[in-house]
Amino acid sequence: MSMDGVLRLYFGESNLPTPDYIKEAAVRALQDGYTFYTENAGLPSLRRAIAENYQRLQAVELDPASEIVVTASGVQALNLGIRCALDPGDEALALTPAWPNGSSIIMMANATVHQIPHPLCGDRYRVDFDALEAAVTPRTRLLLYTSPSNPLGWVATEEEQQGLLDFARRHGLWLVADEVYDRLYYAGARLGDPVPSILRKATRQDAVMVVHSFSKSYCMTGWRLGWLVARRDLAARATDMNEFIVSHAPTFAQKAGETALAEGEGTLLEMLERLKQNRDLCLRALKRMNGVTVPKPDGAFYLFPRIEGLRDSFAFCRRLLEETQVGLAPGVAFGAGGEGSVRICYAAERSILEPAMARLTKFLNAGG
Ligand SMILES: Cc1ncc(COP(=O)(O)O)c(C=O)c1O
Repeated sequence: MSMDGVLRLYFGESNLPTPDYIKEAAVRALQDGYTFYTENAGLPSLRRAIAENYQRLQAVELDPASEIVVTASGVQALNLGIRCALDPGDEALALTPAWPNGSSIIMMANATVHQIPHPLCGDRYRVDFDALEAAVTPRTRLLLYTSPSNPLGWVATEEEQQGLLDFARRHGLWLVADEVYDRLYYAGARLGDPVPSILRKATRQDAVMVVHSFSKSYCMTGWRLGWLVARRDLAARATDMNEFIVSHAPTFAQKAGETALAEGEGTLLEMLERLKQNRDLCLRALKRMNGVTVPKPDGAFYLFPRIEGLRDSFAFCRRLLEETQVGLAPGVAFGAGGEGSVRICYAAERSILEPAMARLTKFLNAGG
């Protein structure tokens, strides 16, 4: 990170700043006195706005008073949800390769995580239901998956979602769906359509939690604002527990979040157009490189090419960085199934992506 002149494609964020209308909403909120504590579950007005958003985008009805907890980021939602569901000594399953924080939070809850890799079948990642069944023990309490996936860009199909829900019901597990990238979706009927949430399939009685964030859809990574949707008993527990962690997300940021939800569609659509073009540009380049297999991802802003013969993705990324000044994330960082690949975040400008792809091509074609 201290090297100069690096083409940085290793971060998991867009290089776009937060749009002005959101920043202005935060300034207005500060001036209007939103500088005091709020409820531990977040401002009722923001929870209502989140519920309206689910109604509008997903045709899902939620009770803002009892089924939504505003959190200080997606990672905090994950933390609250997991810690409320697991006791020390419990076991959890996590579909990987995945953003490593989920598995780490499970371990911080003094539980054990079993990582179940997504197999690559032809040009699509899938869910290995046989491996899931084989990994369940009497102590298994929870299954965590991410769709759209970081780092794969994989999006669970309707059948896969139903299969995961049935599996969780059959074994009495909490199903935790990390849906923070649901708006970054390129395979809907129209650009801007979200990935259908697991909440469309779940009932109010199901042990289901959805983790969400303002970070990715609204370029608000530094604001630390997200939410958890959960069955009301768990949402109540998460609300109580929040008191002892951060109490609540920053008040003026919550007000800005309301504005993001209400006015964000235009800028989101512009970003999606750009991301889709970036994805296609990188895919075209990767497909021409020696020994590279890369499924076309339907969501998020990552590509996860597998490189033939690659045994140490960390050493590969280090050499690539030192010799070409291109910064990628090593696949091994994303858990079981990640070694042998690298992660490219294509949410950068074309002026960064184009030379990065050219240098990677040269590096690989010269034998990597
Ligand atoms: C899959 C996934 N979930 C959750 C998060 C957390 O986002 P934040 O804590 O910024 O809201 C990230 C961030 O990279 C992510 O990739």
